[in-house]
Amino acid sequence: MCGIVGAVSERDVQGILLEGLRRLEYRGYDSAGMAVIDGDHQVQRARELGKVAALSDAIDANPLDGQLGIAHTRWATHGEPSQLNAHPHMSGDRLAIVHNGIIENYQDLREELKADGFTFTSQTDTEVVAHLIEKNYRAVGDLYDAVKAAITRLRGAYALAVIHADEPDHMVVCREGSPLVVGVGIGENFIASDQLALLPVTDRFMFLEEGDIADIRKEKVSIHDREGTPVERKITRFEHGADSVDKGEYRHFMLKEIYEQPRVVKATMEGRLTDSSVLEQALGTDAADLLENVRHVQIIACGTSYHAGMVARYWIEELAGVPCSVEVASEYRYRKHVIQPDTLFLCISQSGETADTLAALRQAKEAGFRAALAICNVPGSSLVRESDLVIMTQAGPEIGVASTKAFTTQLTALLIFTLALARHNGLAPEKEAEIVKAIHLVPGQVNDVLALDGEIEELSKAFMDKNHSLFLGRGSQFPVAMEGALKLKEISYIHAEAYPAGELKHGPLALVDSEMPVVTVAPNNDLVEKLKSNLEEVRARGGELFVFADKEAGVKSEEGIHVMQIPSVHEITAPIVYTVPLQLLSYHVAVLKGTDVDQPRNLAKSVTVE
Ligand code: M6R
Repeated sequence: MCGIVGAVSERDVQGILLEGLRRLEYRGYDSAGMAVIDGDHQVQRARELGKVAALSDAIDANPLDGQLGIAHTRWATHGEPSQLNAHPHMSGDRLAIVHNGIIENYQDLREELKADGFTFTSQTDTEVVAHLIEKNYRAVGDLYDAVKAAITRLRGAYALAVIHADEPDHMVVCREGSPLVVGVGIGENFIASDQLALLPVTDRFMFLEEGDIADIRKEKVSIHDREGTPVERKITRFEHGADSVDKGEYRHFMLKEIYEQPRVVKATMEGRLTDSSVLEQALGTDAADLLENVRHVQIIACGTSYHAGMVARYWIEELAGVPCSVEVASEYRYRKHVIQPDTLFLCISQSGETADTLAALRQAKEAGFRAALAICNVPGSSLVRESDLVIMTQAGPEIGVASTKAFTTQLTALLIFTLALARHNGLAPEKEAEIVKAIHLVPGQVNDVLALDGEIEELSKAFMDKNHSLFLGRGSQFPVAMEGALKLKEISYIHAEAYPAGELKHGPLALVDSEMPVVTVAPNNDLVEKLKSNLEEVRARGGELFVFADKEAGVKSEEGIHVMQIPSVHEITAPIVYTVPLQLLSYHVAVLKGTDVDQPRNLAKSVTVE
């Protein structure tokens, strides 16, 4: 998704802006641009199609010197990726703007502004906002008031940063539906769509809230809320250390993040578990009251986070005996639902800024749920701020577009939540102790799986020339198979579908032949014998099987079946551990195919528009 950076300082800002854009590259984009106000009070602008490196080369050739500037990486929504459609957009030669989000009524505004004599040079919705602000500026002669008036006309989602050459000492920013954070410096201030962009220059941040509009100057940040009331937004410190966003010794962020899992899973457990029980108070002071009264759980999420929710459904129904529904946010938000009494609305999101998930949460808050719980990785994100109760995962910044450590830490948090809920619903203390002990073993077991990396790399060669693949799992391993298929398709571009293994003979078996690798996860549980029969169905059709199996499960390598033995794990924690070999498999296939592992084509890290 698009990224925004802005700075006002005593020093030249182009280096700060470029580094900020580099740090936003992980979000996915197709073009990049920058505008600064120079010493002669003129707007200087550069825009390039392609990578930030191309913009950097252009700026090396023609520097943009100035102490006030805005910059942007664009992910096309209105109009093709091109230099003309890249941000910043201008109205005349004095006003420049960058925008994240979508303006839904841009066509009507465009016609109106054309009739007023404004000329359009791009196909974007953003240029409409530039002209609308300039029109207001001509009327009121003040940038802040002009932005304030203009946004009353906008429908949709936006984070905006605006500069004007007639007011070279400040920028005006605002947000509605798209994230925006202010980075607080000393004698300088910054803004960005993601705090990671600003870590080289500050670790102190203020998260703007929906409807906020802010005036950003070197010495001062003034914020007003939607009603026009002056407000203070709390300053929070970034917790993770600036080097957490470097690749270190790893070739890709994705690999680094896969290898971080033992540590971050452990961090997600810390303070929430004793040796044998869940510390319910660690989930929040209101958690006990809430959990006592929950009769149904409605989980909402997208992508990988949705798969985490699907695993949680197995846990919640099995351990807590509480009915649980799971749905992708983009479907849920657009249909009518019947809400059971005392339903807990549970959103799962790595970023906390996914547009569909947030929209579903906002609807839910009007709809009579008992409370809204968020499982999220980004402190200060919209999801965290807008939920009643929050369980933070401790994955640290996840940069690779393909979610890895976010998923396994979400599962860890969800399992802890499930145990707390189950305790209020009659789970025996001995069973709780058994599972808590199993959770404590997970970081070590993930390490054991990571030790198989070389063998998994070897296996990955069999996928290089394939166009399609099937992933099978049963029970709580079905969502793990779905997550494995999502990983393979998003970074290697190999078509991958996941099925519950029992569904094979109801259709997908027709696809199986020697060109269709079939990947299966087989922990040693009640379903393993049934799964073995499903594997035979595949072998009998000449399919080649790749099975990640518990060493006690009795699945052996032979003609047409490659078995990778996984250390024995408790069946409840197995989804966390069995995810890891599938992540490694996808990673190595993608590396062999030479794709852009950390920034796969057409995808964005944080999907902040619908
Ligand atoms: O930030 P979120 O967890 O809300 O993101 C949801 C999905 O966009 C995300 O999980 C996506 O599917 C992954 N990047 C896939 O690896």
